[in-house]
Amino acid sequence: MSEAVFPVPAEVAARALVDDAKYQEMYAKSVNDPEGFWGEHGKRIDWIKPFTKVKNTSYDYDNVSIKWFEDGTLNVSANCVDRHLAERGDQIAIIWEGDDPSEHKNITYKELHGEVCRFANVLKEQGVKKGDRVTIYMPMIPEAAYAMLACARVGAVHSIVFGGFSPDSLAQRIEGCSSRCVITADEGLRGGRKVPLKANVDKACEKAPVDSVIMVKRTGGDVDFVEGRDVWYHEAAAKVADTCEPEEMNAEDPLFILYTSGSTGQPKGVLHTSGGYLTYASMTHQYVFDYHDGDVYWCTADVGWVTGHSYIVYGPLANGATTLMFEGVPTYPSPSRFWEVCDKHKVNIFYTAPTAIRALMGGGDEHVTKTDRSSLRLLGSVGEPINPEAWNWYYNVVGEKRCPIVDTWWQTETGGILISPLPGATDLKPGSATRPFFGVQPAIVDAEGKVLEGATEGNLVITDSWPGQMRTVYGDHDRFVQTYFATYKGYYFTGDGCRRDADGYYWITGRVDDVINVSGHRMGTAEVESALVAHPKVSEAAVVGYPHDIKGQGIYAYVTLMEGEEPTEELKKELVKHVRAEIGPIASPDLIQFAPGLPKTRSGKIMRRILRKIAEDSFDSLGDTSTLADPAVVDDLIDNRQNKA
Ligand code: WTA
Repeated sequence: MSEAVFPVPAEVAARALVDDAKYQEMYAKSVNDPEGFWGEHGKRIDWIKPFTKVKNTSYDYDNVSIKWFEDGTLNVSANCVDRHLAERGDQIAIIWEGDDPSEHKNITYKELHGEVCRFANVLKEQGVKKGDRVTIYMPMIPEAAYAMLACARVGAVHSIVFGGFSPDSLAQRIEGCSSRCVITADEGLRGGRKVPLKANVDKACEKAPVDSVIMVKRTGGDVDFVEGRDVWYHEAAAKVADTCEPEEMNAEDPLFILYTSGSTGQPKGVLHTSGGYLTYASMTHQYVFDYHDGDVYWCTADVGWVTGHSYIVYGPLANGATTLMFEGVPTYPSPSRFWEVCDKHKVNIFYTAPTAIRALMGGGDEHVTKTDRSSLRLLGSVGEPINPEAWNWYYNVVGEKRCPIVDTWWQTETGGILISPLPGATDLKPGSATRPFFGVQPAIVDAEGKVLEGATEGNLVITDSWPGQMRTVYGDHDRFVQTYFATYKGYYFTGDGCRRDADGYYWITGRVDDVINVSGHRMGTAEVESALVAHPKVSEAAVVGYPHDIKGQGIYAYVTLMEGEEPTEELKKELVKHVRAEIGPIASPDLIQFAPGLPKTRSGKIMRRILRKIAEDSFDSLGDTSTLADPAVVDDLIDNRQNKA
């Protein structure tokens, strides 16, 4: 734990939107008078019919209900596009940088308007109407953003599925929200390798049939074409107008569904709505990144994750920003790629994940120092706790001690950043997400739900609603209530552990449930387990996370085989392949241990605490094992552990 403090640099303070005094004043108002505060800041977006009601929220277990600006109407795509045309029609909205460094494209707001309208008209032609769900399975190309905004324009609800998910996972998500339309590309391109997106869609649609598949041509690769269902986007787009009236939507009409992993069961469809989400995404984007007109901003996430939704597309575009969209990977064609792109497009604000920082750190400083990076002014981090070594390298080597780092803590469920430094206001401590954003009231509770005061450690809850909060689990409000509001009555439970220091700074310590964070991607251990037990040779599986130098956490699987099956290296490979096929490459187990038995209580509950310890290679403090049905299994697990130092 580092106690170093990095004060706000004078040059940063001089141009910042908010200094510490202003932060204190705004924060106090935001929590003392949320109606007044959000009533004022809700006006940062354009309303068709202005709201008269601001906040109508209840965390009461028997009546969880979250509504913001509930009588206002708006259109999110008009806010991200049309309203900028008069003042900044010729300004670049999206800089697209291809996987191959020879490819890039600038899209102005005027062009974005035409593209989004065309896409919206194609959707309409395919019969997509207000309220319909549309699944998007796309590479990082501008059409992914056009597709999102086109859905918003016609009032359809998009559900983006990350391109690294398997056909089965895609099918499950298409079915989960009963999408009738999928938008995809022939193939994706990442690090010079092709990703068979359309072929995956074809496989998914065998299980989850849809009426139409709209396909963007990216690589020109060979793909099947199903007559009557498939449509080439470029052919359809050529036949429609480049104007399309935006649909008038209520503030609480759904904007998107995004499936995310939880501690139990299959992924949940996190539902975000229109007015509050956009207000919150745009406000956090402006303040956390201290965004000024003309800045070039780059978030390296994929639109398949919430970070891509809020901080590549909706937040920046609502603010009339220039947002960079990158198709490739950090190490292709060389580990200098990120910094070369920063130089090429004069990036001022750069936002990435600790896993990428750690991977690049391992490659050596010269890949960074040979680039210029003088345009950079601010760095950001998201997705998992950033260890102080990675923080220091990011700060010293990438940012040359010039650029503050905003370590932003948030979740798919929160819609936007909840805890983060503001660059002009907050002194930094490496590894701490520091202080809450306006309107956010964190608290730390013990296992019984008692709120702990002062410097302390426990579980992180939020005591009241903010406009960007998810509204429900799509189609399953009870699951929403049980997941987030049942553990600690009256509070939103984040699933994260947290420490608060004497300065009131928050330090996120990681998940306290069975969710693991692999390379910044969220995985439920239960999902990996159910994929493993679906294999005919597996009788039982238990999956835990373990510390991994680059990925943050790796996936460690304990597998019990069916009677008579041989525990071979080939079978391990087969199981990895099987999980990749069931869920996708991001869920590949890093280590598999064949276990003749798993440690269980007499009532048959797997004692994961013990499995975690063994996976961490720290088994001398296993704690009480006396309640185990068969304590001897533990010795075998320890002897055959796969993560020996
Ligand atoms: C973790 C990503 C520490 C946390 C936006 C959270 C972090 C989960 C940070 C949500 C951070 C995210 N410091 N931990 N700055 N940011 N996390 O839904 O465990 O993919 O609960 O949202 O990532 O992951 P999700």
